[in-house]
Amino acid sequence: MATQNLFLLPGDGIGTEIMAEVQKLIDWLNANGKTDFATDTGLVGGCAYDKHGAAISEEDMAKALKADAVIFGAVGGPKWDNVPYEVRPEAGLLRLRKDLGLFANLRPAICYPALADASSLKRELVEGLDILIVRELTGGVYFGEPKEITDLGNGQKRAVDTQVYETYEIDRIARVAFDLAGTRSKKVHMADKKNVMKSGVLWSEVVASVAKDFPAIKYEHILADNAAMQLVRNPKQFDVMVTDNLFGDILSDAAAMLTGSLGMLPSASLGAPDAATGKRKALYEPVHGSAPDIAGKGIANPIAMIASFAMALRYSFNMIELADKLEAAIAGVLADGLRTGDIAQDGKKTVGTEEMGAAILAKLAA
Ligand code: NAD
Ligand code: IPM
Ligand code: MN
Repeated sequence: MATQNLFLLPGDGIGTEIMAEVQKLIDWLNANGKTDFATDTGLVGGCAYDKHGAAISEEDMAKALKADAVIFGAVGGPKWDNVPYEVRPEAGLLRLRKDLGLFANLRPAICYPALADASSLKRELVEGLDILIVRELTGGVYFGEPKEITDLGNGQKRAVDTQVYETYEIDRIARVAFDLAGTRSKKVHMADKKNVMKSGVLWSEVVASVAKDFPAIKYEHILADNAAMQLVRNPKQFDVMVTDNLFGDILSDAAAMLTGSLGMLPSASLGAPDAATGKRKALYEPVHGSAPDIAGKGIANPIAMIASFAMALRYSFNMIELADKLEAAIAGVLADGLRTGDIAQDGKKTVGTEEMGAAILAKLAA
């Protein structure tokens, strides 16, 4: 088995706590001949700023670019609220996404059967839910120029963010969504604000044209505000939802609560396949952040992180059977009734991060 290189970036807050559980999984998989991962660990976010004065060092960027996959925890926290904008913790994550060309962010929202009562919605609305949000990740208002605050000199300031999309950016993310829909229940929704935004007009045009190349897949346009409402009204009407960087960010946090907690939602951020090798650059990251309110307490839910690692096994290493087993282990411990605080039902006993990680590993090993 060829050695495969994982670059681990735990980051800040609960990032280090949940990454420790992935490290234990990797150690066990290696020790048992299931994988041959070589791991290296770097700094990103506030911890990188504290050490290097930047949200990620050049050395760690180079390692991320070389790795077969990057496994990312979470960044940010109140400690860095007042650092310069260019070096704020989140800038490290944005640079990784941009420089690695990770334009396709897959955010599956699956309601595990055992958690149908943990959602803030009624059981019948979320039972069996399986949505895939396909978020464009390297364009839009996150990266458009100009992006600035100008002092107008009269006691007023003007802030500008710029939403920019070009045809090729919309075309390639739409194709990712339609390709994936072909392996699922064959339905794609695209959410934009074409009634207000020129970028939405272009999204509608381009995605409708891509849809013509996929006649077996049902395609529907939806306005993003209505999409947010429909997600909490009747979420099971959706299968694949493709959308831009900002709407994807917001809609996926909303979708997370359908599954019981933000602590349940994994993601894969993928680049284009290399023309020669077919390999994609990839970074795997939970959808949630560094959760400063619970950091350091050992109570964070590690499932989004562990399920992100399962996505790495699936998408970067084609270890489908192992990914299936790891996801089944997660479902298994939930079925056994294990709960971290965020997914606990009233009055039920909860476990901490380490106990949840250990139970998932034990299920995998059984
Ligand atoms: P957050 O996702 O960190 O937390 C929102 C809420 O969800 C909190 O109450 C938190 O306790 C809870 N939560 C999140 N993950 C959880 C888990 N695994 N287990 C249990 N509960 C969990 O969002 P926020 O509070 O808005 O942001 C905090 C910081 O994280 C900010 O600096 C933000 O920029 C950053 N952030 C980073 C990422 C990332 O690194 N990918 C993503 C989102 C936010
Ligand atoms: C996410 C986060 C990031 C985003 C932040 C931390 C830059 O909220 O991954 O969802 O807005 O993309
Ligand atoms: Mn987000």
